[in-house]
Amino acid sequence: MDKKCIQKLIKQAAEQIQYCYAPYSEFKVGAALLTKEGEVYTGCNIENAAYTPTNCAERTAFFKAVSEGERQFQAICIVGGKKGVLDNYTPPCGICRQVMMEFCNPETFQIILATNIEKYEVYLLKDLLPMGFGPDNIKK
Ligand code: THU
Repeated sequence: MDKKCIQKLIKQAAEQIQYCYAPYSEFKVGAALLTKEGEVYTGCNIENAAYTPTNCAERTAFFKAVSEGERQFQAICIVGGKKGVLDNYTPPCGICRQVMMEFCNPETFQIILATNIEKYEVYLLKDLLPMGFGPDNIKK
């Protein structure tokens, strides 16, 4: 993916910070999920007083997209930080990596971690979830 495309995704992920519902951790996360056809689905984290129902930004983006009929994804950009200050990379949690494994090719799906449009790193799902369990493992 070219730099311009990555920078656009970073901006879209950062835009989501304003919508985060994170009164308990105060840790705000934004995500922008790019489909293979070039559509973008955004997401923010949504916490809960009972804690465990909390939904991460990445899963919010995936569930929005899948619920609209999308199944083919090429990349996700994630930004986050305490009180919405984006000063460190926010790598996806294990559950979000597993959700990515369900819908994405681990060899090609790109995970972009960013703090701003000039500072980012791109990883492949296979590197962040080595030997992941996915749909292929459950086929007969
Ligand atoms: N969080 C995300 O939204 N994505 C991640 O990958 C890491 C964690 C959220 C969940 C919770 O609302 C807050 O960050 C602190 O864990």
